[in-house]
Amino acid sequence: MSRKLMVAGNWKMNKNLMEALTLASQVITRAKKMSGQVEIVLAPPSPYLHTINSMSKDLSYVKVAAQDCHHKTSGAFTGDISASMLASMNLAYVILGHSERRKHHHESDVLLAQKVSAAIEAGLSVIFCCGEPLSVREKKEHELFVLQQLEASLWHLDATQIKQIVVAYEPIWAIGTGQTATAEQAQEMHAFIRNSIAQKYTQTIAQTTTILYGGSCNPANAGALFANEDVDGGLVGGASLKAEQFIQIIQAR
Ligand code: PGA
Repeated sequence: MSRKLMVAGNWKMNKNLMEALTLASQVITRAKKMSGQVEIVLAPPSPYLHTINSMSKDLSYVKVAAQDCHHKTSGAFTGDISASMLASMNLAYVILGHSERRKHHHESDVLLAQKVSAAIEAGLSVIFCCGEPLSVREKKEHELFVLQQLEASLWHLDATQIKQIVVAYEPIWAIGTGQTATAEQAQEMHAFIRNSIAQKYTQTIAQTTTILYGGSCNPANAGALFANEDVDGGLVGGASLKAEQFIQIIQAR
């Protein structure tokens, strides 16, 4: 069964305006020569979202994602951005549940469930990040840990809403560390996540859900990771900040 292949670049808190526009334009220029079989998602810092979304609007397979949103629609929340604001810019995606937000902003599974609902109600699709810390993997409890994250933040969605979710499996010990999960570890967890979706929803929904791998993905390891049956692409941090590396990762998909 076919499902969407995707490579997403999470720029995190990097690049000034000129650097961001240069990177976006380099990626878009290269993307124009591609077949469009892989959806390319750029997740720049929020001040650049609108401009970069406008730059990419002629290419149906290049989409823009925000890196977070608030769980309320509007109100006295200084510094925050709502899902409906993102939707009003015609953005396609918002990344939610990234381990850096869970850690530095103390985002809980319950809050993330609210953010996921807010995003979907606003009409956005969600790239939902999950993944275990090293201590949990060492105890061989990574499957249970990730299942609990999915249960707590996604399983309240109905069968229509869950189709708006892309899952990104990002083992915390692999993010920004240069230590990638092996292709076998990635495949095993992706198959587990897909199976969990099948059990909660349906086999059809599971087979059409895009599941990305994230954590020190680079041009050298992307091919082996993406060759796995259940790995539909990547969520790329560091290597998405250099156009050439990011393009090579897309081409590995
Ligand atoms: P990394 O980040 O590729 O730099 O490890 C991935 C992510 O945090 O999404």
